[in-house]
Amino acid sequence: MKSQFFDSSWKRTSYCGYVPLPGENGAEVVLNGWLRRRRDLGGIIFIELWDHTGTVQVVFGPDIGSLYEKAKGLRNEFVLAVRGRVRKRPEGTENPSMQTGDREVVVEDFIVLSPSRPLPFEISEADRVDENLRLRSRYLDLRRPFMQNNLRIRSKAAEFTRSYLTGKGFVEIETPMLTKSTPEGARDYLVPARVTPGRFFALPQSPQIFKQILMVGGIDRYFQIVKCFRDEDLRADRQPEFTQIDIEMSFITEEDIMLLMEGYMKGLFQSVLGGSLEDPFPVLSWHEAIDRFGSDKPDMRIGSEILDLDSSFRECAFEGFRKVLGDGGVVRGLLIPGGAAMSRKEMSDLEVRARGLGASGLASFVIRDGALKGPLVKFLSDGAQQDLVKRTGLTEKDALVVAAGPWRETCEILGHLRLETATRSSQVSEGTWRFLWVTDFPLLEWDEEESRWSAVHHPFTSPNLEDLDLLEKDPGRVRSRAYDLVLNGTEIGGGSIRIHDPSVQQKVFEVMDFTPERARERFGFLIDALASGTPPHGGIAIGFDRLVMFLCGVHSIRDVIAFPKTQKAQCLMSGAPSGVDQAQLEELHISLDLAGEGGECGSGGGE
Ligand code: AMO
Repeated sequence: MKSQFFDSSWKRTSYCGYVPLPGENGAEVVLNGWLRRRRDLGGIIFIELWDHTGTVQVVFGPDIGSLYEKAKGLRNEFVLAVRGRVRKRPEGTENPSMQTGDREVVVEDFIVLSPSRPLPFEISEADRVDENLRLRSRYLDLRRPFMQNNLRIRSKAAEFTRSYLTGKGFVEIETPMLTKSTPEGARDYLVPARVTPGRFFALPQSPQIFKQILMVGGIDRYFQIVKCFRDEDLRADRQPEFTQIDIEMSFITEEDIMLLMEGYMKGLFQSVLGGSLEDPFPVLSWHEAIDRFGSDKPDMRIGSEILDLDSSFRECAFEGFRKVLGDGGVVRGLLIPGGAAMSRKEMSDLEVRARGLGASGLASFVIRDGALKGPLVKFLSDGAQQDLVKRTGLTEKDALVVAAGPWRETCEILGHLRLETATRSSQVSEGTWRFLWVTDFPLLEWDEEESRWSAVHHPFTSPNLEDLDLLEKDPGRVRSRAYDLVLNGTEIGGGSIRIHDPSVQQKVFEVMDFTPERARERFGFLIDALASGTPPHGGIAIGFDRLVMFLCGVHSIRDVIAFPKTQKAQCLMSGAPSGVDQAQLEELHISLDLAGEGGECGSGGGE
């Protein structure tokens, strides 16, 4: 079937989902949309015509003559313009599950604006189709109400963001995409510079350095909804190119960022979801977050906390725990509410899981017939047993699991179990929003691979001023002025007060083993800028895609991005990344050595 010419007489007078209620003789409407479903009852044809507002039933009767014959050739996803009259559906034929289920449009005339090839999948059944197939024909997938809704929520969130921040005096400024590498901990995507052979731009992992320089430039309050690029292992909430709401402010302290972001989140959740958030967001130091929840991004929807059981086991007869404590380690417990109902197999699976996470073992306790039971009970005196029950609040319904070892590792192992057991027993309620600030992160961590200190956030984060003298003496103990914003156990944002004193910046580079030459080569322009009159400043970046995932209630970042990449960082629709012509490579002075990579040069690509 051929496409017919679209002129202004065929422009829609109504969206499909908003077809007006019929008047006495039925209002005339023109609709433009996609044919979603078709039923030919022999003598009468019904279709559902779809656009982003919804669907409406359209009826082709035999009284339209030759047009009726043409209607027989219509197929799913043809694009049509339809002229007809709206009428109430005959009694008993209404469809209450459809927004327009009480009405239908009786066709008087129609044209085919665009036929469709046979489709790789039916849109109404797309949620049962393999994701790769959907990604290959993303344009079809986008026609699903689910994707339509998610992208519209995303747009609404972006609109709210702009209006909130500009209302607070922020200026939206674009920073370069072709730039120098910014260290955010991932690999860079590089772009060869044709006119300076052998040189490369890096796509920004974030606009970090530029936003700081905007503060030196007197901009005072900057924001940008900006693409960032990181070549790192992908997960359900990570993409190689993703979007940040990037913010920087001058003459501020941590509280200013926190107040700004709390106001933003409250307004956003109110305007998009109509929900209210707790006020103010709780704040935990990094140390407390690890100690109480075994994670630097704890899910505060889960009630249980990690319990300090050092004193319960210090005097016990169990050599293993006593030794750990003697060596400076810890004994920590986790109460699993309702855990007494776990089978022997479930409990042993939990122990296997703990070992897999690095624990040397996992001891379990329950109360049965009023007595404490578990493999380690025999090592505890009656008093110690009572103390353990009292300290943990263990009841006949629960189970207590206990691990011992170095502080951070032990807490983190129990933190994983806290999350997994709560998720499995459905203690984590969807549709609840628990925000949390985590502060006082360590500034530096020891990088075993590179045998040097590296920044936990990025090297421009200010050390806590009280810890400045530890920078050289004991770098691992220096706390930073960084803060992360956590929502339901996901890090949705991170930022810090920055170093604005060039000598402190130099010192941090030195501790990180950057020679002065290397620091100057990579960040000389920042050091010069810092030395040119820099206001105290700080900022934050919110992972916009992750935030939209929460607003949409979805668990995959791909569901909130129009054209996402797969786990292998590929776009299945366009086939990117692809090979390029030899001539293009030569122009860039690039020769490929793909021996052992199984790759190919020249055009092509794909999965
Ligand atoms: P950070 O690296 O913490 O901070 O990034 C900020 C937020 O961006 C989101 N995010 C991602 N989202 C999707 N895919 C990814 N690959 C990805 N990586 C990060 C996370 C994260 O919290 N320049 C600093 C910010 C600052 O200091 O102001 C920065 O980029 O939600």
